[in-house]
Amino acid sequence: MHSDKTIPATSNIGSYEERAASFDWSVAEAELGWSEGDPINIGAVCTDRICEQGLGAKLALLWEDSHGKERKYTFDELRVATNKYARYLQDIGVSPQDRVCVFMDRIPDFYISFLGILKLGGIAQPLFSAFGPESLVVRLQDADTKVALTTMRHVRKLRKIRQDLPNLETIVVVDCPDVSKLKEGEVAFSLDAAEPVEEFEAYPAWRETPSVLHYTSGTTGKPKGALHVHGSVIQQYISAKWVLDLGPDDVYWCTADPGWVTGTSYGIIGAWANGVTQMIYDGGFSSEAWYKLIAKYGVTIWYSAPTAIRLLMRDGKELAWKHDLSSLRHLISVGEPLNAEAVIWSEETFGKPFYDSYWQTETGSIIITNYPGMDVRPGSMGKPFPGIEAKVVDLQTHEPIDEPGRVGLIAIKPFWPSIMRGYWNNTPGYFSKFDRGWYLTGDRSSIDADGYFWFVGRDDDVINTGGHLVGPFEIESALLEHDAVAESAAVGTPDKVNMEVVKAFITLKPGFEPSDDLELEIMNFVRKRLSPLAMPQVIEFATTLPKTRSGKIMRRVLRAQEWGEPIGDISTLEND
Ligand code: PRX
Repeated sequence: MHSDKTIPATSNIGSYEERAASFDWSVAEAELGWSEGDPINIGAVCTDRICEQGLGAKLALLWEDSHGKERKYTFDELRVATNKYARYLQDIGVSPQDRVCVFMDRIPDFYISFLGILKLGGIAQPLFSAFGPESLVVRLQDADTKVALTTMRHVRKLRKIRQDLPNLETIVVVDCPDVSKLKEGEVAFSLDAAEPVEEFEAYPAWRETPSVLHYTSGTTGKPKGALHVHGSVIQQYISAKWVLDLGPDDVYWCTADPGWVTGTSYGIIGAWANGVTQMIYDGGFSSEAWYKLIAKYGVTIWYSAPTAIRLLMRDGKELAWKHDLSSLRHLISVGEPLNAEAVIWSEETFGKPFYDSYWQTETGSIIITNYPGMDVRPGSMGKPFPGIEAKVVDLQTHEPIDEPGRVGLIAIKPFWPSIMRGYWNNTPGYFSKFDRGWYLTGDRSSIDADGYFWFVGRDDDVINTGGHLVGPFEIESALLEHDAVAESAAVGTPDKVNMEVVKAFITLKPGFEPSDDLELEIMNFVRKRLSPLAMPQVIEFATTLPKTRSGKIMRRVLRAQEWGEPIGDISTLEND
């Protein structure tokens, strides 16, 4: 299906084909006033640099929560507030390259402390606030995290695991009304009460200095910490400008949580490196509330996800039309396949299509995407970002495929500025992502004769629920801790809104019988330990699970059954 979009005169990228043909990263570096060998610090690029450009009085953050509480920060206020965090962390003994986790809801302190950590040269480890103790402990142990920043609401989850974290020196509670509520090793910090810090000399990181550690789930083992560097801002800056089309008068809303990579690469860095005003909403999904926010703040650029779009679709066009959404000028989506219906629906509802963008925690920035003004082929992810060489390669040999329409793995030619520089504590895992001179994404796609990428699916067992990756191994490990569970397998099962949700197949230990109560108990058991996303929405009690002759559970067979797909090669399946 082909629509007839033409390039708007205002598009930052201009002609994609021309940019792609002539691009090299020095274009972005020059715009940032940086050249090889100079220090570069993301915290300073997003705050000090913008103020030096004379934009200190411009609004950086328009924040609102679900109770209607509001805060506003100008770029100068953001600069001073990030300095406060940097100075405070320095005073409590944080040194450059120490890991500092941010474990909070989407409150201003999240965004500000993240940049403060970077200004100090620390490694920021953002974590999703819905994580339970078990999801937290593996990530904090692996990263050897020194300081955790959190709020009264979430500190109790850290307390539960404190004894397992001997290297976690300090928990900083940023909204503590009364220090008598704190336990040993916990301190209170208040951004509002802290003395202004007018000057803080940002740590002179160079482009390869580690900056951000984002954990992402794999098929096996623990979550992997993708380590990024300060030089990633070069790519985050230019891709935010060209793909999100951010400009001086925009009000930008990225709906992603900063516990996930979209919420930092584009919900903090890309936007503020461009000196753009961001609106941030600390509240759950509600079509009505979202439309009201767009109208109230005059949101012009909206970066969201297919699951959210499907929820908006469920509530109907009429609801959208009750609100003045005329400020919207460009809509972009990420995280899951953006189905053609969603693109068409958004065109009918908002007068604009959602433009798909594809990337990963590991790639650090948008890799394949549709650009404002480009001919959008609904259902396609678009074309590689200028400066990115992407192909599909044969599933087995990893040789590039030139034949249009043939499915292979999406492969990208290393290195680009924002690619991860390693998985924390997991060098073999990192090297396993490269073969024959390519970085292998682990996603399957084809490319049509005109160079558009068409996503097919993941090449592993990781479950993508509502745009968030959850690892089957983590879920299965949590399930096995339940007294009644003998064996388990977690796979994705189709879901209308979230694309897929977790389904667990479980065999019970002797003495336990399947029941609705047990099902509910097991679901909650996982939710509390890991997160609501990892909680199985469906549990099927089985008498046996399909296994290989060597005893490995074949999730692939269960998954195929859920999706009504052919089971494929089962020659290694155990004979019952
Ligand atoms: O499977 C792809 C899917 O999400 C994965 C990356 O997830 P994560 O590392 O959490 O980063 C999410 C934010 C970029 C990919 O390997 N994915 C991402 N974008 C798309 C997508 N699948 C289809 N279409 C997309 N546009």
